[in-house]
Amino acid sequence: MSRIVVVSNRVPVPQGNAGQAGGLAVALLGLMQRRGGLWFGWSGAVAEAASPPNLVQRSGVGYATIDLTEAEHRGYYTGYSNGVLWPMLHGLPHLMSFRRPDLDTYRRVNRRFADALVPMLRQDDRIWVHDYHLLSLPAALRQRGVLGPTGFYLHVPFPAADAAAVAPGIRGLVQDVLACDLLGFQTASDRENFAATAIGFAGAVRTGDEMLELGGRPVRLGVFPAEIAAPEFAATAAAQMQAEPARLLARSLREQALLLGVDRLDPTKGIPERLEAFRRVAARRPPRSLAMLQIAAPSREDVAAYKRLRQEIDTAAGAINSELGEPDWLPLRLLARPQARDTVAGFMRLARVGVVTPLRDGMNLVAKEYVAAQDPADPGVLVLSRFAGAAAQLTSALLVNPHDAEGMAEAICAALDMPLAERRARWQDAWAAIAETSPERWGEEFLRALSPEALDRLPVAGTA
Ligand code: ADP
Ligand code: F6P
Repeated sequence: MSRIVVVSNRVPVPQGNAGQAGGLAVALLGLMQRRGGLWFGWSGAVAEAASPPNLVQRSGVGYATIDLTEAEHRGYYTGYSNGVLWPMLHGLPHLMSFRRPDLDTYRRVNRRFADALVPMLRQDDRIWVHDYHLLSLPAALRQRGVLGPTGFYLHVPFPAADAAAVAPGIRGLVQDVLACDLLGFQTASDRENFAATAIGFAGAVRTGDEMLELGGRPVRLGVFPAEIAAPEFAATAAAQMQAEPARLLARSLREQALLLGVDRLDPTKGIPERLEAFRRVAARRPPRSLAMLQIAAPSREDVAAYKRLRQEIDTAAGAINSELGEPDWLPLRLLARPQARDTVAGFMRLARVGVVTPLRDGMNLVAKEYVAAQDPADPGVLVLSRFAGAAAQLTSALLVNPHDAEGMAEAICAALDMPLAERRARWQDAWAAIAETSPERWGEEFLRALSPEALDRLPVAGTA
């Protein structure tokens, strides 16, 4: 069996930066630990000068990481990846902040990744590149003579072609990523948007339902929704009912219904809009009848839009509590720090309503985790943004438009008042959508599509 080489910006080296890597790490770690292989990317450290990769071996996986210099971190990570691509990909162009040198740095760092990786590669490796930080890497690898199966997975959404075109440099990056053999997306709509952009702006042609071609090279576009280990998460949530954090939270609630939000503190997550919806709900309900816990883990704190967001939600939270609170009761509890994943599982099980309302999200694993955490006999209700990738699978959730505070408030009230029979029926549908799959299966399906056999079977239209 060929070796798997994963390349991602963040690498969850065990005992190093574990716990900081989020959705991507959660999805891939189990797969890599079972199959073995090489995982290459950024160490998470900023150093004075570039140095060769640092290699550590843990449970059959080799983790090779390089540091970034201060200028590289600023231009590639903070500047172009998170100041331009991230907002564009989530359809929030007003949050973009473009500086031409950042695009040059982004491309240079992608080339540096290729330079560091190529000497570690073997001829029959299957290379799997992840996410928007590394759109240029497939082309950089091909330019260095790497011919083997190379896949790319986009964890985040891809917007309509005109919305993608607002990011300076996107045409070249779309051409670069098309140097791979297989491109994976979270939803069919992301795939179609990418295809339209590749055809409209980057000179690709469509040669089949799932096939594009650029310069005679075929590329398959597939849909591989990211998954969680639902039964394991359910068991963790149930076990956490006996743990101190969940017991303390339950005791503090007494008879209050808990609403829960869990996110990185990110402008795409729709936290201010959600707080406004909650303010409307709290104003309509008797004091002490409900409480909202919003956990917002600080993220990308060097990016200006994230700094502004922190101030905005601190202000909004203070206003809700000063307007609606009582001497013995505050409606909103806001924690701007991450909690352990197990602890969050327990909180999810205690919550009568899971409020997952991003403005746009590739998948949103929190939505799936909330479903998994519920007590099947007495489940809570998921209020979910229709613009999260998860909405394509969790169709029994109460789907809302996160730009419509009143609509969200109505959905939250409907969730609070929902009879048990309806809660159970909706939960069973949602559980059926997530229970039979897993992150490992998601990864295996992608890797199967990236196997030489699967790639050979593809029509290679137009090539000699
Ligand atoms: P993203 O990939 O944008 O961070 P996802 O919802 O897909 O969003 O995945 C985030 C992962 O990180 C989930 O497993 C979730 O439980 C975890 N997570 C998100 N926010 C927090 C938080 N505030 N505290 C602890 N864990 C969090
Ligand atoms: O959703 C995109 C993503 O890269 C996730 O995989 C990860 O959870 C999150 O963003 C963390 O971002 P960063 O690596 O910038 O901290």
